[in-house]
Amino acid sequence: MNTSKQVNVMIGLMFLVALFFAVNVINEPNRADTARHHQTETFSKRGAEIYVNNCRNCHGLEGLGPEEGAIAPKVNNPAFLILSEDNKYGLPPTSEGVALGIRSFLTTTLECGRKGTVMPTWGEKYGGPLSDQQISYLVTLMTEGRFDLVVKKGYEHDSHQNPPATREDILSDGTGLALTQKNCGQYDALTAREYRERDPFAEVAVSKDSPGVETTSSSDATPSSSPSSGGADDALVQGIPVGDYFLSLCAACHGPNREGLVGPALLPSNLVEPDQIYIDTLHNGRAGTLMMAYGGGPVLTDDEVKSIVTWLKTVEP
Ligand code: HEC
Ligand code: HEC
Repeated sequence: MNTSKQVNVMIGLMFLVALFFAVNVINEPNRADTARHHQTETFSKRGAEIYVNNCRNCHGLEGLGPEEGAIAPKVNNPAFLILSEDNKYGLPPTSEGVALGIRSFLTTTLECGRKGTVMPTWGEKYGGPLSDQQISYLVTLMTEGRFDLVVKKGYEHDSHQNPPATREDILSDGTGLALTQKNCGQYDALTAREYRERDPFAEVAVSKDSPGVETTSSSDATPSSSPSSGGADDALVQGIPVGDYFLSLCAACHGPNREGLVGPALLPSNLVEPDQIYIDTLHNGRAGTLMMAYGGGPVLTDDEVKSIVTWLKTVEP
């Protein structure tokens, strides 16, 4: 091989090496995306496994809660979605700040449970059974909305196990349900509303329609209050409107719209007994059930108990 041929070969090789690096650099973001995608998929799958074993009995196999006859609210909730760069809706990704808020809301809720409700404490650091890592898998499952994986897991699971508990099994075995006592500064049903009623799609629409103006979404999260009915709606209980009080302390069991979950529906059409029956129920609780005593002392005054009963019996949700 003469010198000029050697030079040509060298140049050719250098060119190939340069090309190799160039291609790799261009591909780099793609590979990072693929790796992230792969990780989310793995986390969601592990979350699905944990969900099937621990959560489905109360929240339902599809995570739809009352919509599938389960006793706890839906956790397959679009409000919890965090949209990634390449989301299937073709929408801009959820902002970092909002994403952080949702992750922390879900993480705290899982770690602590919900005080005064049957949502158990799950975090190891508060005496529950799940590690931080396992909780993060569940959070990923919910922020990715991958309940398709849960359903798949559930069917595999059921084919070689006893059928899962039904709503009736759970409610008839009162000892299986306990109220969470721990207070780790968690959200309650009222403060949770900001997260559980969020609309990730409207959020994006707002920031798209008015670039730079991220404030004032016109969506008013408060459910339309029913027309004023002789003041029963305006009563204050423990310093807050009776409807808000109900949402924060009673809705976990009786449903946010009083439609009934763990406890019975509390609508004017159901509450056909004399007031005194319900006043006594609130006052003393019902022994042997999850309905505890609220009245006659530091918790609720007699007047407050009466206001609640009047409200339940006269105001439609
Ligand atoms: C931890 C769950 C739980 C919470 C929280 C709870 N309840 Fe109940 N409640 C029940 C259950 C379960 C029953 C049914 C008891 C029974 O089997 O008789 C019930 C029954 C009732 C009844 C009687 C309904 C009827 O048709 O006889 C009223 C009224 C009532 N609850 C009001 C309230 C109010 C108001 C609050 C909030 C201050 C509240 N409950 C909080 C679980 C709960
Ligand atoms: C024994 C029944 C029960 C089990 C088991 C249970 N939950 Fe819950 N969970 C509830 C109830 C009831 C609430 C609603 C509390 C409230 O109204 O504040 C709740 C609330 C939640 C919330 C908040 C939803 C919102 O809109 O505020 C999330 C998230 C959640 N659960 C996830 C889970 C996960 C994940 C598991 C499994 C590790 C699980 N839960 C197991 C009963 C249960």
